[in-house]
Amino acid sequence: MRIAVIPGDGIGADVTAEAVKVLRAIGRVYGLALDIETLPYGADYYLQTRTSLPAGASRMLRDEFDAILLGALGDPRVPDMQYARDILLGIRFELDLFVNFRPVKLLDPALCPLKDPDAARMDFVVLRENTEGLYVNIGGRFKAGTDDEVAIQEEVNTYKGVHRIIRYAFEHARAAGRRRVCMSDKSNAMNLGHALWQRVFKEVAPAFPDIEASHLYIDALALQMVRAPAQFDVVVTNNLFGDIVTDLGAALQGGLGVAASGNLHPGRTSMFEPVHGSAPALAGRNVANPIGAVLSVALMLGFLGHQAAADAIERAATIAVREGHVTADVGGTLGTRETGDYLVKAIEQPADTTKALHRL
Ligand code: NAD
Ligand code: IPM
Ligand code: MN
Repeated sequence: MRIAVIPGDGIGADVTAEAVKVLRAIGRVYGLALDIETLPYGADYYLQTRTSLPAGASRMLRDEFDAILLGALGDPRVPDMQYARDILLGIRFELDLFVNFRPVKLLDPALCPLKDPDAARMDFVVLRENTEGLYVNIGGRFKAGTDDEVAIQEEVNTYKGVHRIIRYAFEHARAAGRRRVCMSDKSNAMNLGHALWQRVFKEVAPAFPDIEASHLYIDALALQMVRAPAQFDVVVTNNLFGDIVTDLGAALQGGLGVAASGNLHPGRTSMFEPVHGSAPALAGRNVANPIGAVLSVALMLGFLGHQAAADAIERAATIAVREGHVTADVGGTLGTRETGDYLVKAIEQPADTTKALHRL
């Protein structure tokens, strides 16, 4: 298995080091042949070379690797962030990773910030369209910087793009034994682009009579995610709305430190990354929570067909959280590296792991 690792900036590097440590440990225990190559793309590389992604890099990633593990991008030394968009959105778009797969699930009921005890049962996935919408950067600025400035940023919704993400939502629901798909848009206000979402949802849903199809406007979805998150199974939405509600989803799970994601194109080289950013204030201080990155490795292994190894990582993370062997953001006292070490131990010593599981 050839894995490209792009640690990136800030805490991206801190958490990726632990994610790779865990990946190597799981590789040893499960007999996976791993060939891991670290790539330097990020702010330092950009400042040294004035290149964000070298020509041909996307093709190289797609053709020479089975998967990509990314930390995070964003550095205050490069305020316009163009290099970060070039790398992150560049890979998502050029590898056509049209599904941004973001689970919302509690590792421990204690991490749930909501009072309602039923909320602790939450276990759903947000499928965010990942190749179009408001992220395509089509538009322009006229009279920029003046009081007469006009700024236009177009939202692109294509039949192909909307259809494939909605179809994936139903197919995933069926394959994963889930019962419900909720599509979320803003078709009450945006009755051009989002009329297409309405049309395609109504077109695709009947082909999946075993799956219950429902709809919420995005504002109502935000409310319901806080009011009663256990009602959701699969949520499908556009690029920007998906970005926003998955930070909300992260908060429901215990914070950005534990939220994982996969940028997927089934059957092709895909990219896995924690939901959080580079958190410059925490960088290099051994305080960032590596669990979001580590669970992204689990998503990667599951996607590549190594479900037992993926489950073992999730089990180790569950035990780490429940036993308090974690960083301060989720109630522990460990550093980033020590949390990684604990996860490696939990994976390498399954007997102790089993004992800990019985105690839960
Ligand atoms: P952020 O996710 O970096 O941080 C938001 C908050 O969450 C901060 O308070 C931070 O302390 C906390 N946090 C995040 N990850 C954590 C972790 N692993 N452990 C403990 N606490 C954690 O978001 P931001 O501050 O909005 O953005 C910072 C930079 O990251 C920006 O440049 C932004 O564009 C970029 N960003 C990149 C990605 C990515 O590369 N995928 C994602 C989001 C943001
Ligand atoms: C994410 C991030 C990115 C996005 C940013 C950094 C462009 O917030 O992956 O959630 O909006 O997709
Ligand atoms: Mn985001």
